[in-house]
Amino acid sequence: MALVAPSMLSADFLHLSQDVAMVNAHADIFHLDVMDGTFVPNISFGFPVIDAIASEAAKPLDVHLMIVEPWKYIERVGKTGASMVSFHLEATRDAGRTSETLALARSCGMKAGLVINPDVPVEDLFPFLEEVDFILIMSVFAGFGGQKFIPSSLERIATLRAEIVRRGLPVQIEVDGGVSPSNAAALRSAGADILVAGSSVFKAPDPVSAIAAIRG
Ligand code: DX5
Ligand code: ZN
Repeated sequence: MALVAPSMLSADFLHLSQDVAMVNAHADIFHLDVMDGTFVPNISFGFPVIDAIASEAAKPLDVHLMIVEPWKYIERVGKTGASMVSFHLEATRDAGRTSETLALARSCGMKAGLVINPDVPVEDLFPFLEEVDFILIMSVFAGFGGQKFIPSSLERIATLRAEIVRRGLPVQIEVDGGVSPSNAAALRSAGADILVAGSSVFKAPDPVSAIAAIRG
């Protein structure tokens, strides 16, 4: 069993409250992708949309920041009422601000998550495992929904899981990108706790059974 976090990037923005109601009734977490057009070559949505979803959400909000200088926006994310926030290691490490940004997220009452793209060695996360509540492993390059799952992500998840177990840490593993009913079982057995799914939920003929299949 994994928790299922539908990515609202693939929702129907003209009928957002219907999709919010579906997640409230059938899924576990709202995954909200914030893109700035600089850290990634795409722009998604920002606080007006997150606040609107928050006003109807009965499940926890998980905000995935794909932005430069994420430390500038953590407190504002906290004001949305989000339970989880994550940002990319690639966006903080050159400035040496990874630890302080994780601590800031926790001080705002949120679970703090660190994200890496598929080209960042999973071992680069190890120095921070004591400072995070969860790790988000990208199984596609961040920036767009609807991309194809990268199979080597499975091995990366297993490596990370082994290190978390070896150190006896309570860190959860979330996976994002190309997740579907066809790879969910492999992801769960590799050690994923939370599965983000955008197109495989919202573009499915039956989103409710897609969620059930991904959950396992
Ligand atoms: C991509 C986002 C994902 C995206 C997932 O950069 O972080 O959350 O919405 O979409 P699918 O599940 O369609 O790959
Ligand atoms: Zn995401």
